[in-house]
Amino acid sequence: MHGFWGRAALWWLLSGPRVPGPTPVRHSSGGPSWTQERTLVAVKPDGVQRRLVGDIIRRFERRGFKLVGMKLLQTPENILTEHYHDLRRKPFYPALISYMSSGPVVAMVWEGHNVVRSSRAMIGDTDAAEAAPGTIRGDFSLHISRNVIHASDSVEGAQREIALWFRSSELVDWQDRGPHSSNYPA
Ligand code: PPS
Repeated sequence: MHGFWGRAALWWLLSGPRVPGPTPVRHSSGGPSWTQERTLVAVKPDGVQRRLVGDIIRRFERRGFKLVGMKLLQTPENILTEHYHDLRRKPFYPALISYMSSGPVVAMVWEGHNVVRSSRAMIGDTDAAEAAPGTIRGDFSLHISRNVIHASDSVEGAQREIALWFRSSELVDWQDRGPHSSNYPA
């Protein structure tokens, strides 16, 4: 099947009902307004092999972001080809798909104020040599082809990627009353 609609139909048929796509919610409790966003973060196969999952989760929790979805999966090829569709003509594309298929991935959905931009800053530059120390890639990665983690690069991209990787039943809307929340103090 070729073309955008063909791919979209195939993807929909293969994947079943998915998340309609979270809309950024702006809510105010009399104080500053909070833009609630969600983003997709995936610990890539090299990160899982190196037992970095716990460290990565700890960084997101410590920052105050809220985990609303998480699963360990051997990623089906249709998800990878859709996820990396825009890169399909890059010379590294076959190696990228093969690397992402080489072992399990931990896919997560994190929620919070400006989480898309913040998580990109936390993971660091795609190219390990450019990634600042203190970022996930700056601390753990040596080469662009083994860069440990993925995070969505825009709010629209995050909505698309969350809908691709997660069914709506796999995401949990829980009430955040912690100090990082706009509901605090409750
Ligand atoms: S590009 O070329 O500017 O569009 O690529 P970039 O935005 O920097 O990266 C997009 C994803 O491709 C991965 N990438 C690579 N994988 C393997 N080998 C090489 N040489 C390579 N270059 C880029 C990069 O890690 C990005 O993956 P994600 O999952 O989005 O982090």
